[in-house]
Amino acid sequence: MKLLHKSGIRKKHIIIAIDGPAASGKSTTARKVAQRLGYTYIDTGAMYRSVTLKALRQGVLDEVRRFPENIADLLQEITIHFDGDTVLLDGRDVTSDIRDNRVSREVSFISSLKPVRDKLVEMQQELGRQGSVVMDGRDIGTVVFPDAELKIFLVADARERARRRYAELVAKSPEGSEYPDIDQLEEEIKRRDRDDEEREHAPLKKHPEAYEIDTSSLTIERQVDSVYSLAVDIQKRGR
Ligand code: CDP
Repeated sequence: MKLLHKSGIRKKHIIIAIDGPAASGKSTTARKVAQRLGYTYIDTGAMYRSVTLKALRQGVLDEVRRFPENIADLLQEITIHFDGDTVLLDGRDVTSDIRDNRVSREVSFISSLKPVRDKLVEMQQELGRQGSVVMDGRDIGTVVFPDAELKIFLVADARERARRRYAELVAKSPEGSEYPDIDQLEEEIKRRDRDDEEREHAPLKKHPEAYEIDTSSLTIERQVDSVYSLAVDIQKRGR
């Protein structure tokens, strides 16, 4: 039965949902698993970050904090596309700008707004209708694709996640620039976890059917291998 799509046509594609808190290894794992399976990788965090970047650039954050419904204006004329690993916001490459610290600080607020979630969830469901995908985020297994063939929930110790974020930022920063403070990064990560878990709409939580994997002491290869083998099992079972 599960093979039948609503249209009655045999469903040929598979959805793999990977959720978890900040810096738990979702995007690296999702990208590599997608590559190995030949599926499309979709980073939904990049979509929430893009909306946040747009709000910052338009200088409307304070207004939206006072009148959250005003976010609707910004959502009316927004486009977000992926071209491989490149993220295009309104046709412009924002791949590195969306990783900016200012965006990281404000993204949980923007993501908590219902009109933002409704709009992005609709875009994500449309992407999932176009073919097999590995999609990562906070609510993919719970809200976007509760029927996903495979659901994964990645977790890791907060200190280890701060270390990973630190290494990522150091690797990306131009020579001679100031290094981030690891304690501060850990605090920011914990704050974002709290905001994501406690929000009213689509909070971060594990779907009861999701496989939980603690990546604290796993190498990327081991992480990718475990998700990949689960995906291959699913494919074999022809679900
Ligand atoms: O890469 P990192 O783990 O730092 O975060 P991200 O995946 O880029 O997501 C950034 C933020 O977007 C999260 O902290 C959430 O507030 C929000 N988000 C969400 O609400 N729902 C999703 N499906 C994906 C991200």
